[in-house]
Amino acid sequence: MVGQTIALARRSLFPAAADRAVSRVRGAAGARPAPRRAGSVRFEGVGKTYRSAAGEVRALAGIDVAVPEGGIFGIIGRSGAGKSSLLRLVNRLESPTEGRVLVDGEDVATFDGEALIALRRRVGMIFQHFNLLSAKTVRDNVALPLRVSGVPGPEIARRVDDVLRLVGLEGKHDAHPSRLSGGQKQRVGIARALVSGPEILLCDEATSALDPETTLQILTLLKDINRRLGLTIVLITHEMSVIREICDHVLVLDRGRVAETGPVWQVFGDPRHDATRALLQPLARGLPEDLAGRLRPDRRLAQAEEAVIALRFTGATEPDLAALAGRFGGALRLLDATLDRIDGHSQGRLLVAARLAPGEPLGDLSALAQETRVLGYV
Ligand SMILES: Nc1ncnc2c1ncn2[C@@H]1O[C@H](COP(=O)(O)OP(=O)(O)O)[C@@H](O)[C@H]1O
Ligand SMILES: [Mg+2]
Repeated sequence: MVGQTIALARRSLFPAAADRAVSRVRGAAGARPAPRRAGSVRFEGVGKTYRSAAGEVRALAGIDVAVPEGGIFGIIGRSGAGKSSLLRLVNRLESPTEGRVLVDGEDVATFDGEALIALRRRVGMIFQHFNLLSAKTVRDNVALPLRVSGVPGPEIARRVDDVLRLVGLEGKHDAHPSRLSGGQKQRVGIARALVSGPEILLCDEATSALDPETTLQILTLLKDINRRLGLTIVLITHEMSVIREICDHVLVLDRGRVAETGPVWQVFGDPRHDATRALLQPLARGLPEDLAGRLRPDRRLAQAEEAVIALRFTGATEPDLAALAGRFGGALRLLDATLDRIDGHSQGRLLVAARLAPGEPLGDLSALAQETRVLGYV
């Protein structure tokens, strides 16, 4: 049923492909092929320096990255790494100080007037704090981009209905944002971003203000939208689990530069850059500093032959310390533990350091806990 609804929405949300193609040629005569439903983005030698009376901030430098069309592309990096600056170049909320940003092969710096308005229709955006107008109803918030671009009333009503159904907010037309939960507010944000039928959806920390359960629902919705509407999503997050859940590609920014980029399975499976490793180790937070500093991804690089292992218990198995220690001949140190007892089940994680005999294989750890992960070696 949801599928049908979305299929319907797809048809009516993108009724004017030809119109958009025309507006994209900026008044030039002659036809162009209808735009793809999913947009592509390319950053070519992009740099961004903010200049103010207070001085200069070099936010981005030497960015050469292609965002493939149709996928979900994640951007991660520490606070201040330049993630938002990069995203805001795509819809020209900011302009680069060097290099070019190409959307569907066209340099966005060349867009002006009508073409810039058309670009903003093709590139929707959602925000961490939703940016809804509190004095307006859900309907009016979502309708706003269409009103601004002079779409006729009946057409607006139809498209607002479609997107609200798409994001699961049918019946909420007349509610005010203050009456909605965080998840519902973000759904309104998504509906407003989709109502113009964009090819690209930019999400800046869109789930950071939400609880884990609502985060999951919004991510599921974004993934659904990506698959069914076939648009490209570029998403900033500080939650690695978000990347793992829904992204195909990831870009790691470090102090304004590309640390690494590639398919998620590759970057997360074999992180090459220290910035990536640091981001990927929220589990290592309980690690004493002396160990964290010495942790090496490869056993051959470690000084002692000690594996640092995170074990997760979900309640199905008890953390059996004797069995754990026995597995490593008694040479086991407990580094950190968080365990809750919920309804008679132990849930949480242990962080241990296990000494290995030289050359001894680590072997299969799956019997020790619900999930085991070797964080590295010291
Ligand atoms: N409008 C601005 N004026 C001046 N400096 C800015 C502006 N926006 C961002 N910056 C600076 O640029 C750097 C990158 O910021 P930002 O792109 O927001 O990073 P992130 O989103 O990764 O936290 C930071 O040092 C930030 O302080
Ligand atoms: Mg930011």
